[in-house]
Amino acid sequence: MKILIINGPNLNLLGTREPTVYGNQTFEEYFSILKAKYPSVQLDCFQSNVEGELINALHKADKNIDGVILNAGAYTHTSIAIADAIAGISTPVVEVHISNVFAREDYRHVSYLGKHCKGSVSGFGLKSYDLALQSFLMDK
Ligand code: DQA
Repeated sequence: MKILIINGPNLNLLGTREPTVYGNQTFEEYFSILKAKYPSVQLDCFQSNVEGELINALHKADKNIDGVILNAGAYTHTSIAIADAIAGISTPVVEVHISNVFAREDYRHVSYLGKHCKGSVSGFGLKSYDLALQSFLMDK
């Protein structure tokens, strides 16, 4: 099974970015743990701060990848273009958030992406990625 994690803006700063909200671990550290936990999964990861590059990554994932785990960061709450990209591909996408977006500012309660996703995971720290991955394995 091929799974691609796509991380959006500011998620390259994990480890030092607002540690009380996002924790102290870098994504690279967590990604190695996740890869080791699921050796049978071909797990890849892409990060960009640029909206169009996230859209290109979603288009590229279409048909080549079994599932996408997407943390679009703040674009979750603003981007109709990313929502359209998810709607336009056949690869299933699971929306992920490290923090519990529903326990934060009102503008984070809205997701333009959720409607087009298979499901959403929010609030379990970096383990949200693991839960999203498990949701794909459940279907096998
Ligand atoms: C986030 C939540 C978003 O509201 C925020 O803009 C992020 C990270 C999360 O993983 O908790 O950048 O997607």
